[in-house]
Amino acid sequence: MTKSADKVLAQTARSRGTREVAEPPASAADRNGQSSAQPWLHLPGREVQAFGTVRDFPIALPAETRLYSCEQLNQILADSQILYSLYKKHHWLVRGVTFYQLHLLLDKHAGEQLALIDAVAERVQTLGGVAVGDPRHVADLTRIPRSPDGAEEIPAMLSRLLEAHESILVQAHRAAAQIADRGDDGTADLLVSDVIRTGELQAWFLAEHLVDTPLVYTGTTAPSAR
Ligand SMILES: [Fe+2]
Repeated sequence: MTKSADKVLAQTARSRGTREVAEPPASAADRNGQSSAQPWLHLPGREVQAFGTVRDFPIALPAETRLYSCEQLNQILADSQILYSLYKKHHWLVRGVTFYQLHLLLDKHAGEQLALIDAVAERVQTLGGVAVGDPRHVADLTRIPRSPDGAEEIPAMLSRLLEAHESILVQAHRAAAQIADRGDDGTADLLVSDVIRTGELQAWFLAEHLVDTPLVYTGTTAPSAR
């Protein structure tokens, strides 16, 4: 660590109200086996693996296969992060007589999407790739259309979620088949068993809310009109 970095560490500790400023860590060369309790703060970052590359992992899959899987997974990961955000947005913004039911349902689906996002991201890492994580990077990659910043009517909210699901499902079906052909069984299984099955089930629950069905009478006329 340079002398100016030592100075920054000491100044930071002072500016945060530390009564006694801990000794900043000496550089590795100067340390002579001594350790320090002071964390190294404000460390300069540098990219050690570029997005869109894979490391050499010994998991019996060629680099080209793992690279292809990571590309497909990152597209699904970006779109799923947008779907998760739309679920949370609509969980907050729903209104009307079905508020409570939809408020809970949309939050449940959001939680399930969050679990999927984690599984897909960790699959990318398992394959030696780099998972898309920064929301601004997600916004660059996603194919899900942006929603208006304000509130929409409930049917439009549900329809928007359904369309996002279908977009992800189309991508997941295509990717699962091609990835299975390339021999990446683990990724194909994740796509079929988790991404596709969860997406289909959630789409069913949403679609049933878009059926225009009477709540308390049958036929085309209300009882009072008979
Ligand atoms: Fe909530």
